[in-house]
Amino acid sequence: MNHIATTQHIALSSFLSNATREKQVPAGLIALIKAVADACSSIATAVERGVFDGSSGNAHSENVHGEAQKKLDVVSNDIMIGAVEPVSSLRGLASEELESVQVIGHEDSDGSPDYLLLFDPLDGSSNLEINGIVGSIFSVLATSASGGVIDESHFLQPGVKQVCAGYAIYGATTMFVLTTGHGVDGFTFDGESASFVLTHPQLQIPENTREFAINMSNERFWEEPVRRYVRECVAGASGPRQANFNMRWIASMVAEVHRILMRGGVFLYPRDNRIPQLAGRLRLTYEANPMSFIVEQAGGMSTTGETPIMEVQPDDVHQRIPVILGSRLEVERLLRYHHEAAAA
Ligand code: F6P
Ligand code: MN
Repeated sequence: MNHIATTQHIALSSFLSNATREKQVPAGLIALIKAVADACSSIATAVERGVFDGSSGNAHSENVHGEAQKKLDVVSNDIMIGAVEPVSSLRGLASEELESVQVIGHEDSDGSPDYLLLFDPLDGSSNLEINGIVGSIFSVLATSASGGVIDESHFLQPGVKQVCAGYAIYGATTMFVLTTGHGVDGFTFDGESASFVLTHPQLQIPENTREFAINMSNERFWEEPVRRYVRECVAGASGPRQANFNMRWIASMVAEVHRILMRGGVFLYPRDNRIPQLAGRLRLTYEANPMSFIVEQAGGMSTTGETPIMEVQPDDVHQRIPVILGSRLEVERLLRYHHEAAAA
């Protein structure tokens, strides 16, 4: 579909002003989204400029998950915090790159809704070494702590409570993809006007697809329903699916989800028994939940294999979760395979 030909060139700021009027999206949330989008365009520049200003390479530090941080992980985290801290509706934030949640000292004075921001400032940052695709992911929760002190417990809300989610993708072009629960809209950064412009309104994930994404090198650790699904895809036209499938693995969740929004498919980072106590690789509150909200708002589906991801009650802001998401019919099939395996 040629998105450009079918839409007006509406800037993100006008789109958001219309959303306040037409969809009753609160002004405090709009201010937060604008700040996040500004941060994302600055992160895009930081990624581009990294090699020139000394911020490429390793930071020689680890994040809370024990993963080696890139300098740009830290820079992107600082950019995001710097951009959103002044937003008066923001009461706290959580990040993949921060061990503890950070409380923002704004007073809850006027009774309007207040928000918490959870984010992965630079997803897929191992791709930086190869000039591959990276992104930023964010989730917004409303907070009920009127007048009270914010702590981690306020962040431990299931994904169904999200009021907004989105990501930026730093690829051949920089895009900002957003949902406030009224479908999913995609904006492309226009260097000439230095603004995000609506290029992909109301994205819908195709139901029927023949593309899957999984890190095959982990096959020996997978659970049986996932093995069965992939086995059947790989068997192709002469197998039970009677169709040839294609496989992709970009090693950046943002890039995988973006591909699924554009042309369908399914993405799996399932439960595996590599490190059994971790229950998966991806993080629930700032990776799996926002991506699930986007995918479901675009007509797709997301599950752990047992439970809808957005119904999982988090018990830690950094907890991990198995992720299966994408085109509805494929995710339903995977869910059926899990149910059949459980019943056997
Ligand atoms: O944030 C975690 C992440 O980088 C995702 O973006 C990506 O899907 C995954 O990890 C890649 O994992 P692996 O290194 O196992 O391929
Ligand atoms: Mn990530």
